[in-house]
Amino acid sequence: MKIYILNGPNLNMLGVREPEHYGSTTYRDLLDMIERHCQEAGVEAICKQSNHEGDLVDWIQEAYFENADGIVINPGAYTHTSVALLDALKAVRLPAVEVHISKVEEREAFRQISYLRAACIKTISGHGVGGYLEAVDLLIAHANRNGKDSQ
Ligand code: DQA
Repeated sequence: MKIYILNGPNLNMLGVREPEHYGSTTYRDLLDMIERHCQEAGVEAICKQSNHEGDLVDWIQEAYFENADGIVINPGAYTHTSVALLDALKAVRLPAVEVHISKVEEREAFRQISYLRAACIKTISGHGVGGYLEAVDLLIAHANRNGKDSQ
């Protein structure tokens, strides 16, 4: 099983940026956590981060062309603005889980809108970096239930 784990803008700054919202785990630590978790589960994890919207669109498409089984995505601020990312997820029709480290529903009004949610099987918000591991487990369970190509 192969899962793409995509992170949007400023998530490379984890550990530095607003620790009151995002905690003290660095992006490097997060990658190590995900890698360990996926290895134990026998899942190939392809982790990518960009501050640029188009890169994220390209990688969602790449996940399709590389026959990935699912996508975990924390789109960062693009969550609240990006029709392009919504369209990309809809285009590839891979099961996707949206992750937010912070509890977005308890933050500013502009964070209450997620353009991507409509194309995701689940949104995990406010579970810290553990949310990524939960998302991986959800995709594994989803694949076991439904097989491939099953959003
Ligand atoms: C975030 C929440 C977004 O509102 C914010 O713009 C981020 C991170 C989160 O992980 O909690 O960059 O997606």
